[in-house]
Amino acid sequence: MSKSAVVFYTWGGQAKTMAEEIAKLTGADIIEVKPKTPYSDNYSTCVKDAKKEMDEGKLPELTETDFDMSAYDTVYLGSPIWFGTIAAPIAAFLTEVDLTGKIVKPFVTHGGGGKGHTDKDVAALCPGSDVKPALAVYEGGKKEEIEAWVRA
Ligand SMILES: Cc1cc2nc3c(=O)[nH]c(=O)nc-3n(C[C@H](O)[C@H](O)[C@H](O)COP(=O)(O)O)c2cc1C
Repeated sequence: MSKSAVVFYTWGGQAKTMAEEIAKLTGADIIEVKPKTPYSDNYSTCVKDAKKEMDEGKLPELTETDFDMSAYDTVYLGSPIWFGTIAAPIAAFLTEVDLTGKIVKPFVTHGGGGKGHTDKDVAALCPGSDVKPALAVYEGGKKEEIEAWVRA
């Protein structure tokens, strides 16, 4: 039987709302990825620290590293857009797990800049997966657009 997981990271809650909606529509298991050291609750500080981390080529350590994805054939992958791509905790997740042979369906929420180079970056981090074009919505989007994407 085909089984799906929704894996997501959120800073402000929008990607979480989307993940919950997708899980509700698909019956998928839901997995929240969290950095060991959370980013600041203050937006400007978070942006400054995340930018510094990216400029230094670093990825955050996650609270969990031994994700067992073997049961899933489809992985919905949710993230806010950070600097034109998936947020660092989701990039860290993709470097920890092997999603070879699985379908990967990214979904991202952005603040007006669109999905940037998400598709290219996710494909590079999941070389053995069938990565679908990402759903990109503005600040969490609307239920209807998420549902249309899930059902497409
Ligand atoms: C560190 C950081 C970087 C961001 N970079 C971008 C960006 O490059 N383009 C954009 O449109 N929005 C950017 N945003 C805004 C978020 O992508 C947007 O508010 C998103 O909906 C937040 O999702 P969340 O509530 O799940 O964290 C950034 C936000 C943060 C905190």
